[in-house]
Parts: sequence; C-alpha cells; structure tokens
Amino acid sequence: MCGIVGYIGTREAYPIIIEGLKRLEYRGYDSAGIALFDGTDLKVSKTKGKVSDLEARADKEITKHGNIGIGHTRWATHGVPNDVNSHPHLSNSGDLVIIHNGIIENYESLKQELMTRGFTFQSDTDTEVLINLIEDVKIKENVKLGKAVQIALNQVIGAYAIAVFDKTKPEEIVIARLGSPLAVGVGEDEFFIASDASPFLEYTKNAIYLEDEEMAIIRFHKAIKVRKIKDDTIVPAYVQKLQMNLEQIEKGGYDHFMLKEIHEQPKAITDTYRGRLLRNEAIIKMAGVEDNMKRFLNANRIIIVACGTSWHAGLVAEYIFEDLARIPVEVEYASEFRYRNPVITENDIVIAISQSGETADTLAAIKLAKSKGAFVFGVCNVVGSSIARETDAGAYTHAGPEIGVASTKAFTTQITVLTLMALRLARAKGTINSTDFRQHLLELELIPQKVEEALKSDAHIKMIADIYKDSRNCLYLGRGFNFPVALEGALKLKEISYIHAEGYPAAEMKHGPIALIDENMPIIVIATKKGHYEKVVSNIQEIKSRKGKIIGIVTAGDTQVRDLADHVIEVPDTLESLSPLLTTIPLQLLSYHIAVLLDKNVDQPRNLAKSVTVE
Ligand code: AGP
Repeated sequence: MCGIVGYIGTREAYPIIIEGLKRLEYRGYDSAGIALFDGTDLKVSKTKGKVSDLEARADKEITKHGNIGIGHTRWATHGVPNDVNSHPHLSNSGDLVIIHNGIIENYESLKQELMTRGFTFQSDTDTEVLINLIEDVKIKENVKLGKAVQIALNQVIGAYAIAVFDKTKPEEIVIARLGSPLAVGVGEDEFFIASDASPFLEYTKNAIYLEDEEMAIIRFHKAIKVRKIKDDTIVPAYVQKLQMNLEQIEKGGYDHFMLKEIHEQPKAITDTYRGRLLRNEAIIKMAGVEDNMKRFLNANRIIIVACGTSWHAGLVAEYIFEDLARIPVEVEYASEFRYRNPVITENDIVIAISQSGETADTLAAIKLAKSKGAFVFGVCNVVGSSIARETDAGAYTHAGPEIGVASTKAFTTQITVLTLMALRLARAKGTINSTDFRQHLLELELIPQKVEEALKSDAHIKMIADIYKDSRNCLYLGRGFNFPVALEGALKLKEISYIHAEGYPAAEMKHGPIALIDENMPIIVIATKKGHYEKVVSNIQEIKSRKGKIIGIVTAGDTQVRDLADHVIEVPDTLESLSPLLTTIPLQLLSYHIAVLLDKNVDQPRNLAKSVTVE
C-alpha cells in the first residue's frame, strides 16, 4: 500500500515529512516523493527507489524550507515504478499538487474526457487524472479547492486517500478518504496527515481518523472541519487519544503482520476484483486477457508454473479452469519444469504465479517457456517486478505488500484473479451459460463478507490450536477443489510452527497414510457440503474407527460431520469452485495460533525468506 504524510503548522515541514515517510517504509513501496511550499513557490522532488534516494535527490533539487508539505511512498498499481509515475503529481497549471493511496477504477474514461478538454498527462497513473479532474472542476465551477475536490470525488469510482494543496493558497491542505486509511494528528497549532499514526506519534497522541466518504480542509490556526464528500454536511471530528506504540501501529494493532494480512483478505480480494468484476453489466474485464483472447481460446493447454503457496493456487486454478472453461491445464513446480526439458509448443500458454515476482525458479521457467515459443501470462502482486516485466501479459493481484513470510492474502487474491480469468474465458468459449455466469459473479462479490464471517471463528480456532499445539505430525485431507487447500494448510503449519504436516487427497488415505493414524494424530478434514461430501464423511468414519483426532472444516450448520468429529470449524456456504477462498481461512488461523502458542517467530520463521531469489 502507498504511504501518505503531510504537515501544516509552525515547524519546518521537510524533516517531519521525510522521517514520516521512513516510518511508513514497512508498508512496502517502490518510489517516494515530496512537495513543499517554500514561501514563494511549490517545490517537488520525487524518484523511483527509497526515501534515502529521495533525500539525496531533494538535496540537489529543492530548497527544503516551508511549513506546509505532503510526501508519499508509492506501491505501484497503475504504471510501473519510475520517477514520472512517482507521487506527488501536479495539475496542468502547476498550481495543484496531490498524493494518493488507492485505485481510481474509472480513470481511463475520466482521462479521455479531460484530454478532449485540452489536458495533457506526463504519467501513466490514475492519480494524475484525479488532480487534473480537480483542476478542471475548480476552473469550470469557479470554486475553491475544497469544493472542487468534493465535486470531483463525486465523479470518481474506486478507493482513495488523498492530500491536495494549491500553491496559490498555501495555507490549507484538503484531505479525503474512501477505502484507504487516513489519520490526522492534532498538535499545538499544527496538523499532521498520514496513512496511519506512525509518522506523527512522536509529536502528538491526539488523532482524528477520517471515516469512508469523509473529507476535511486543514488550515493554519483553524480547527479542523470534517465533512461528508457526498453532500458537504459537517460531521463531528472525534479526537482520540492514541494508546498504541509504533510497532503496534505498523501491524495495524495486530500482534503480527501475518495476522494483519489474514484479516486484510476481505479488502485484498475486493481490491483484486475491483474494476474487473462488473456484476451489473454481467461482465468481467481483464485487459491482459482481452488483449490475448484469441490466443487463450486457441490454446492447446495451459501450463501453470509456480512455487510453494503460489503453486497451490495454481492447483486450485487447474480445477477451476477445467471445470468452467474446459481448457486442459497442467500445474508444474517451476523448479522441476525448468530442468526437465518439457515439451512446449507455441500453442501452449504458460501462466506464471508469484506474489513477489522475484522467485528465481519461476523466472527461469518463464524464460525457458518463452525460448520454446510459448506465450507467458503473469499473475503477480508486485508491479514492475522481474516476473511482471518478463511475462508477455498479466494481471496483478491487488493484495498490497505481504510482509509475513507465510503467504496468506497472496493465496486468496491469486485464486481470485485466476477465477476471474477462468470465468472470462468460459464466457468467451460458451462453456458457461449466462445464469451460471451471473451466479458466479454474485457469489464472488459476496466472498469478502463471507471471509469476514469465517474470521469470526478466531477464538474457537485458538482453543483448538491450544489442544493440538504439541502434536508431532498432522494430516490435512481435502477432495476436489479443496485438495490444494489441504496442501496449503499443511504448508502453513509446517513453515511457521515447524510441526511436520502433510496434505493429501482424502481418498488417497487408504493407499498409505491411514497407517499413520492413531490417537495422537490430528487430522484436519475439509468437508464442506459440496462435491464429494458423502465420500469425505466416509473418510472421516475410517479415521474415527482408528481413533484419529478429527478437526472438520464444515459448511455452517453441518450436523453430520459435527457428530463425528472431535471439533468442527464452520465456514459460510458458497459455490464449490469458490470454496477454497473460504476453507483456507481457518487453516491460516490454526497454523498462526499454534505457532504463537509455541512461541515461534511467526513473521520470520527460521530458514525461510519472503522471496526465494536464489536457486
Ligand atoms: C508460502 O507461505 C511461502 N512464503 C512460499 O512457499 C512462497 O509461496 C514461495 O516461495 C513462492 O513465492 P512467490 O509467490 O513470491 O513466487
């Protein structure tokens, strides 16, 4: 996620903003910038790279004086990381300057309209469109900046947290939020603006958190007024006394980044389908797929290459693509694929899945596939990453930075992207009728709130974790779409608690693993009321007769498995093909709580790296 910092008050703004940006570095970013009004003019310095690179550049480029300014760390969503796409962005007149965290979905249409009105653009960003929309409104309606921002934001679809000021009136900063966080630190005759309180905690513990669809005009020596963007009505500005310390703020109040990222999944999934799943028009729009539709429709097969959790997402995609779009899919470990001299033709499409976009084996697999003429499509979480740049086309997951080494929101957003792709191709091939297509769109749009529902079992899961935390081995079983989830659940437990765990297709148990089962072995069985439910129930009975301890992941309201298992964890009902997005949630929480109870280093488990950039 991008980081926002602003200051208006009696002190020099530059050091406060720069140090504030450093406080936000934990959010992950690829470029940084600052804008100051130095008493005579607007000074802007911005660069691809780190805040330290910005400091070096600012030393050469700008006078670092002035007591009003805004600063930004960018996590690219539109436009690759480079100097031009970095924030702040200026309006065409050069008078208005903006920083923005979020995604403007309708920026293309707004940009077209502005271009017909003579506006020009330097960058590929949605943010530069927004600042020129604000300028266009300000001129057309002959209104002040605050009113122009309010009118402009009512034309915008998407998510934003913005800070804007006008160099011709450098005594106020206008802020607004919808879907991305924005806090105001209230000092003695000074105000701090930031994505969270970490940049201003050392100056003041008095904070106002804007709610969604709220904006405020922050002026020198004036009390802050918060308004509704929709209709300009004043709302009370509630100043709260912060109790959190810096580390707690960076983790959003959670004990670990992993837990924060588990709980970010509803937003991450929403952000990933935002602008792509258009339920009212009953369409899916994905530029990377649309531009290569013919290739996809004529493909002999799809080969998915990935590692670890991303490989598990690929396995889920195999079930979804073949079930919905009837396209043959093979899923390969990138590390095996790259060395085994695979048969690849130009009629093959390779999909490379990678959260970091830097995994060496996956990158090598891509290069091999391309050398043999295949078209390669990337599903990455980091804009401008090596894999994103190496692939012929792609679709980003908009999960935001994933700090915890154990992938969580990356997995569910990868499945979201791959599900959208499969549905889009199924529609194009006519292998899904419009009723089923609409039902999938509706259900996919309901997934974020169903994930919220699944997260409510946290305390119950923690209780189960306490019972089984000293197990030496665990077995995870699933069938169909949930077989890959069983593998993913086992990986989560292994990598953060160091307990040996294996995932297996439930039916495979009788071909060996059943020999392992005794009263000391917890078996996690995904038994949602879809697909092969009755067969999973009979697997559970086989386990029970061997005294295995059964933890069932069941559809809410299930009584049959509840009467058989030692424990059940409920998830809301959904379509079978979407159930991995829900059944994985309790498995993430179970591994998290066991690891915490065992006092393991959850965010940085031993021997592991967040991105395996070496072979
Ligand atoms: C999963 O929790 C691990 N972090 C690891 O298996 C990871 O999924 C794998 O290294 C692939 O990383 P990537 O998605 O960044 O390519």
